[in-house]
Amino acid sequence: MSALAIHGGTPVRTKPFGGWPVFGREEEEALLAALRSGIWGSIDGTYVKQLEVAFAELQSARHGIACVNGTMALSVALKALGIEPGDEVLVPPYTFIATASAALMIGAIPVFVDVELDTLLIDPALIDAAVTPRTKAIIPVHHGGSPADMDGVMAAAGRHGLKVVEDAAQAHGSAWRGRPVGAIGDIGTFSFQSSKPINAGEGGIMLTNDDELDELLWSYRNVGRRRGGEWYEHVRLGWNLRMTEFQAAVILEQMKRMPAQQAHRTEAAAYLGARLSEIPGAVPLRVPDGVTAHSWYTYHWRWLGAADGGLPKMAFAEALRAEGIPVFHGYTPLNRNQAVIDEIARLGGPEPVACPNAEKAEADEILMFSLPILMGTHADIDDVVAAVAKVAAVRA
Ligand SMILES: Cc1ncc(COP(=O)(O)O)c(C=O)c1O
Repeated sequence: MSALAIHGGTPVRTKPFGGWPVFGREEEEALLAALRSGIWGSIDGTYVKQLEVAFAELQSARHGIACVNGTMALSVALKALGIEPGDEVLVPPYTFIATASAALMIGAIPVFVDVELDTLLIDPALIDAAVTPRTKAIIPVHHGGSPADMDGVMAAAGRHGLKVVEDAAQAHGSAWRGRPVGAIGDIGTFSFQSSKPINAGEGGIMLTNDDELDELLWSYRNVGRRRGGEWYEHVRLGWNLRMTEFQAAVILEQMKRMPAQQAHRTEAAAYLGARLSEIPGAVPLRVPDGVTAHSWYTYHWRWLGAADGGLPKMAFAEALRAEGIPVFHGYTPLNRNQAVIDEIARLGGPEPVACPNAEKAEADEILMFSLPILMGTHADIDDVVAAVAKVAAVRA
């Protein structure tokens, strides 16, 4: 066996992986057209309006309301659903901080419902036990682009009268039992931040099938105005969270590239999963049966080889990076994030419960490849697999 690069051996790969986003003349021309139109804001412009229609159609929703980012989209969604300070909102702990902070920023208390260890998705079997008289909503996260178990989530929401906000920040093009995510619950929110499958550097959108929620989301995004009202008519308090025409012009072009890119990543993920599975200790995440489309925003997998004498997770990741493979060690579970814990305490909420699966995932198991690796060729993925096999063979 050749020496690990971290010990001075030759790295498996020295070439960088591809960049993200992919763009060309189409984005350039769209941006210039938006610029030359002289209308840069969405109030009088056409690009944001087109995007709202096109993105809602992509995800089979009746309404789309574009905004500045996926974080504010979540806060606005909760606000529009009538979530008040002190209300409890169920969230999985293994996610980006925004899923919980968006609730906290409007005074609501995130209550954590652990994920399944083999999917990293919220475990519907744990929802009932987390519900209290103050629970008003649940935010399933379609983590990495894999839809959460929406059968289980919607059934639990029905049992307890909870509103459902799908955090689909990573799940452009994903579907559960043939139904695109985002409007399965009451509201779904997406991000167009730089790393996302469709992006313009920043941006977000909220989707809903409900006409009244559409009006409310539009109003909260638009400084509390009402559609058709006077410019200085503010019927409620809201934020200015409007997207610019430049962002929408770019996103509309990126959307045209998305289906082929998603198909590429889907094939690449299957290839990577099959090859990783040949390595003792490397275990791909389970994709639930109901997932009929997956954005493959990220590729998370489990390193279980430490139990058989292989390197512990963090040492494994470090060694893999030295082999020329960018690998990430994933999220800190939000029930263990001090800023989240402190804010919950400040608001008088209950101390976050332990979430053994999310904590084990972080401490011992989960490694993650980001989207550019899945946009690569089989030869790129072969390098990834060769490096994983090399590091997996090392005894601690
Ligand atoms: C699961 C999840 N929720 C919410 C967000 C927030 O989106 P944004 O970065 O656009 O605010 C992100 C983005 O990173 C995310 O991954």
